[in-house]
Amino acid sequence: MNVTVPDSSKATAAARRPPNKLPRPADVCWCGSGEKYKKCHKDADQAFLKEERKQLEANKVLPGDVSPKRDVPIMIRRPDYADSGVPSRGSGRNVRTAEELVRMRRACRAAAEVLRKSGAQVKPGVTTDAIDAFSHDLIVSLGGYPSPLNYRGFPKSICSSVNEVICHGIPDNRTLKDGDIVNLDITVYLDGMHGDCNATFLVGDSVDDESRQLVRVTHECLMKGIEAVKPGRPISDIGRAIEVHADQHGYGVVRSYCGHGIGDVFHTNLQIPHYFDARSNTRMEPGMTFTIEPMITLGTWEESHWNDDWTVVTKDLRRTAQFEHTILVTETAGEILTRE
Ligand code: MF3
Ligand code: CO
Ligand code: CO
Repeated sequence: MNVTVPDSSKATAAARRPPNKLPRPADVCWCGSGEKYKKCHKDADQAFLKEERKQLEANKVLPGDVSPKRDVPIMIRRPDYADSGVPSRGSGRNVRTAEELVRMRRACRAAAEVLRKSGAQVKPGVTTDAIDAFSHDLIVSLGGYPSPLNYRGFPKSICSSVNEVICHGIPDNRTLKDGDIVNLDITVYLDGMHGDCNATFLVGDSVDDESRQLVRVTHECLMKGIEAVKPGRPISDIGRAIEVHADQHGYGVVRSYCGHGIGDVFHTNLQIPHYFDARSNTRMEPGMTFTIEPMITLGTWEESHWNDDWTVVTKDLRRTAQFEHTILVTETAGEILTRE
């Protein structure tokens, strides 16, 4: 099945769209007229949102066909879940030894290289399955194992998340359309360590301004989160910095998926929320490695799930973007490991 999805980039007329948080009927209208909302824009807003919902439904991403599992040569070191699908807890530590850090740096550098080169494959007409094949072959050629492959049963080597897909999209035979945005999430297992990074790419040159701004601000959110990394400070500082920046643009922060400790296991118990959560009171320590990977939404931060066990989409079908780095806490700050 090859589904043709109309270009959704022209579907949202940003000029007339009402604010995300609508006034109550008796409150003053958002437009500055001074009139009561119910006498002013209320009916127009309802009509706009109904029409937009119709457009978003008509243009939503549909599941395609998933190709058979790709092989990894037998000489390549595999994580413990490669056959069973069930990851062990590993050491569970979040602070790495100097020797582990040497290997961690190699895995992270490889992931960054694969992300850059896979991103260069993004263009209209290319299927996400073709990008998966490209990434898989490159990871293997670098001596690595593509960490997503069979992780808790995930069927492919990377995650590819288009438009309203928040994360964990499964590469399939859907072709990328001019005007789409697509996140590629690359994780490489090399020398016994995982390196995890992702980025959102524009497809072609007709991506609408609203989506371009979302992608830019989401990257800024990641960088604000990284700038908040400081030994001795609680993990909650990271999410606070991200949430403040997203709020300034009226964007949502996805709450159900967090950054995570990473090292000899893909996901340790350590969670890094991208919103402020006072319960995240673990103090950052030199030698800790974890990811920061904010998912930012144009509209609601609430999600729904496809029935494929993986794909997470925004509940309102509006677009979402994400960027991710693996970070090392140094004596003074956060160092980005997923760099070439
Ligand atoms: N790379 C994702 C993350 O950033 C996890 C993907 S899990 C998979 O944590 F199973 F979907 F691959
Ligand atoms: Co991650
Ligand atoms: Co990732």
